[in-house]
Amino acid sequence: MDRSATFARSVSLFRAFRLEQSDPEHFYGVLAADSIAQLAHWVDLEGTTVLDVGGGAGYFADAFRAAGTTYFGLEPDAGEMTARGTAEPGTVRGSGEELPVRTGAVDVCYSSNVLEHVRRPWAMADEMVRVTRPGGLVYLSYTPWLSPHGGHETAPWHYLGGHRARRRFRRRTGAEPKNRFGESLFAVSAGGAVRWARSCPDVDLLAVLPRYHPWWAAWVARVPGLREFASWNVVLVLRRR
Ligand SMILES: C[S@@+](CC[C@H](N)C(=O)[O-])C[C@H]1O[C@@H](n2cnc3c(N)ncnc32)[C@H](O)[C@@H]1O
Repeated sequence: MDRSATFARSVSLFRAFRLEQSDPEHFYGVLAADSIAQLAHWVDLEGTTVLDVGGGAGYFADAFRAAGTTYFGLEPDAGEMTARGTAEPGTVRGSGEELPVRTGAVDVCYSSNVLEHVRRPWAMADEMVRVTRPGGLVYLSYTPWLSPHGGHETAPWHYLGGHRARRRFRRRTGAEPKNRFGESLFAVSAGGAVRWARSCPDVDLLAVLPRYHPWWAAWVARVPGLREFASWNVVLVLRRR
């Protein structure tokens, strides 16, 4: 992790995160700018083609375009896609598990906070590798199940089991959580991603990082066991062979 990932940056991301529900534009603006800065450490984005898998309403689109990229989004959920009004230009409807994209078509395949919502996460990871050109970059970030936020709105009760946490949420609020365990939220581990990456013949694993941590805490993502709890959100940076 480069040393621009300071403690002050972590604090400002955390502050923005607390406004996710009340001011999503602010939160996503901060997160998008931060993602571009993180990616710039690995790739010169100017002139590249980027595919944002599970890009939702395209909150990251402006930041990617401002960085000089040609941005394409992919999103399966029509409601998410149009959450800001009309769908973001350049966004297609589809699943990350079967990307409707030609092999080797993009320079950067990016996905933020999606993998834990996918029933077959390693199929999606394989697809991201497939559509990236040799030499291109795959950036895959998600919340591991055992992270304090692993259960999303049902946290921290997910530590007692996903189904139990879901039932508790329903009992307390009278409604289903937005992220429903076993349907739209799955237990994806950090170790599982590292094992997948190491067994994938088409990529080199450049880094495993705790996405929001300062640079001096980056080591937590390299420690099996600890990384499940302490990374909060884990990022895999991969180079397509
Ligand atoms: C928490 S949102 C993340 C949105 C955005 N990428 C971000 O970082 O803010 C998760 C997104 O993943 C999408 N998603 C769920 N299943 C998916 C799949 N199989 N393929 C691609 N995206 C999926 C959801 O519809 C939703 O838009």
